[in-house]
Order: sequence, then C-alpha cells, then structure tokens
Amino acid sequence: GLPDRVTIYEVGPRDGLQNEKTIVPADVKAEFVTRLADAGLRTIETTSFVHPKWVPQLADAEELLGALPPSPGVRRPVLVPNERGLERALRNGVTEIAIFGSATESFARRNLNRTVDESIAMFAPVVERALAEGLWVRAYVSMACGDPWEGDVPIDQVVRVATRMMDLGCAQLSIGDTIGVGTPGQVTALIEALVAAGIGVDRLAVHFHDTYGQALANTLAALRAGVTTVDASAGGIGGCPFAESATGNLATEDLVWMLHGLGIDTGVDLDALAATSRWMAERLGRPSPSRVVEALSPK
Ligand code: HMG
Ligand code: MG
Repeated sequence: GLPDRVTIYEVGPRDGLQNEKTIVPADVKAEFVTRLADAGLRTIETTSFVHPKWVPQLADAEELLGALPPSPGVRRPVLVPNERGLERALRNGVTEIAIFGSATESFARRNLNRTVDESIAMFAPVVERALAEGLWVRAYVSMACGDPWEGDVPIDQVVRVATRMMDLGCAQLSIGDTIGVGTPGQVTALIEALVAAGIGVDRLAVHFHDTYGQALANTLAALRAGVTTVDASAGGIGGCPFAESATGNLATEDLVWMLHGLGIDTGVDLDALAATSRWMAERLGRPSPSRVVEALSPK
C-alpha cells in the first residue's frame, strides 16, 4: 500500500545551494525560503552552521536567519556538525537541527575531517545538549547506497552507523544516497534492514540524489516500504561539495507531480513551487534540471 499523506522535507536552501560557487546574497536566500513556505512547504532545511571555510555559500547562516520573519507552522531545521555549530544555532533561535554522519570512512574524512568513530564522538555532546534544550534532532547517514571512493557499501555497515546515530537520541533518520547510485531493490532491502534493527519506519526519511535518474523510482520503493517523509530540493538543484559525482537532489516538483498523481496529499501548490524554482534558476544563471519544472514552463 501507499500512504495517504507524505511530508516533504525541503532541502533546497541548504543542500540545493551549498555547492553553488557564486555566493547567493542572504536576502535572495530569505526570499527563496519565504516563497517555498508560500508554496505550501512546511519543513524547509534552511542553512548549515558548519565551518564557513568548508562551505562558503552558507557562511551567512546568522544573517539569513536574522532576515527571515517568524513563520509559525513552518519548521526550519539547520545542519549542525559539532558543539560550535550548536552554539551558533542556539544563539539564533533554532529549534530543529540535523547532524550528518557517513556510512563510510572515506566520506567521513572528507566531509567532517573525522573517522566514523570520531564523528560519532563529535555528535554525541551535540545531541545531548540539543535534547536538553528541547530541540528536535534528525540524523543523516550519507553514502547509504554507494560511495565514490569505496564503491558498494554493505547494508550492515549502513545499519551499524545509523543505529549508533539513532542511539544518541535522534528523532528521525534520513537515509542519504549522496551520489544517487541506488536502485529500488537496494532501497527496499536497506529499509527492511533498518526496521529489523529496531528503527521504526515512522522514524525513517529518504534523501535521494538524481544522478542516475533513479530518485523517483527509489522514492516509490520507500513509500511502498512504509516511509512517509521524503527529502527533495526545489528545482532539483544541489549536490555535496565533498562528494565526487554528487548532482542535484530529487526535484521537489518531480516528487509532487508523482505524489499528486498517486492521490497522495502534500499541501504543495505545484505551480507556485515551479515558479519559485524558475525564479531561483534565473538567479543561479542556468535552467532547473527538473523535468517537471521544464514541462510546466511557459513556452
Ligand atoms: P575541522 O577543521 O576539523 O574543525 O572541521 P575543528 O573542530 O578542528 O575546528 C577548527 C576551527 O574551526 C576552530 O577555530 C573552530 O572554532 C572552527 P579556531 O579555534 O581554530 O579559530 N569551527 C567552526 N566555526 C564555525 N562553525 C562551526 C565550526 N566548527 C569548527 N560549526 C568540521 C570539522 C565538522 C567543522 C568541518 O569539517 C565542517 O564544517 N564540515 C561541514 C561539511 C558540510 O557541510 N558538508 C555538506 C553537508 S553533508 C551533505 O551534503 C550530505 C547530506 O545532504 C545527505 C546526503 O546527501 O547523503 C546531508
Ligand atoms: Mg544531500
């Protein structure tokens, strides 16, 4: 069966923009977030409190949050890797954070300058403090379907890292196919293994990149396995600067088109969303890679 309703976890302002070389001004980012909310998105991952030299595009996290009006009913989680990041987030009124670990040593090293063990040790006090402050905490596990340096990533390796992150007390686990190599059978097997390891399917989210055009097929497999939270990026922008070959995320428009076609409610106004992605594409200086955005564009 399929769910009646799906929660879209929009990552455009964060995963979508983090890899852009030209700095997008904070006021444009603020307008992007506001327009996404106006289009009906209720969870918008807004920025990252990471080292500004590692991700220069998101060095304006404080300025961006300061420029955003209060938006009741819209959740605005941010990425936080360490205690320094949490300090910054707390000072700026953040109430939802995401830590981000890696299933592989190669990516942990490149993305976090840590081994997998060291990165879990870095996250532990972050989650402890965040929970004590009443924050909601999501955990990402990246390279869950394959790694550019290590190739195939065994499912039990993904489950091991995911379990350690969830044991810290996180509310949700987002399964990250960072480089978009996964296929539906693999996704089903991974979800089944995570559920068998005790992570309830209601606590799972999926995060697909569309490098090999599999993101929608993988999403459908995840929905059939009981997942009801799906990450997507408006216009399909994005990619990770520390992951070779990572391209854009599943486009939110492609996801919404499929879900509405399946009779699944999202609360999203697809035309308003596509117009937002066209507006953003103009600012980025190239067309959106989303097929649905293209199809809905005035000819
Ligand atoms: P490091 O160099 O090991 O940091 O980087 P450190 O702990 O040694 O600290 C060095 C200096 O940085 C110190 O300053 C810290 O205060 C400062 P000093 O004392 O030398 O003057 N510092 C910070 N400053 C501001 N904010 C901070 C911060 N932390 C330390 N938060 C670190 C370690 C984790 C910080 C670094 O590797 C980093 O920022 N990594 C972020 C990488 C990133 O954002 N990647 C993209 C997101 S992941 C992704 O895209 C995948 C995902 O989409 C899911 C999927 O697709 O699978 C989520
Ligand atoms: Mg990603």
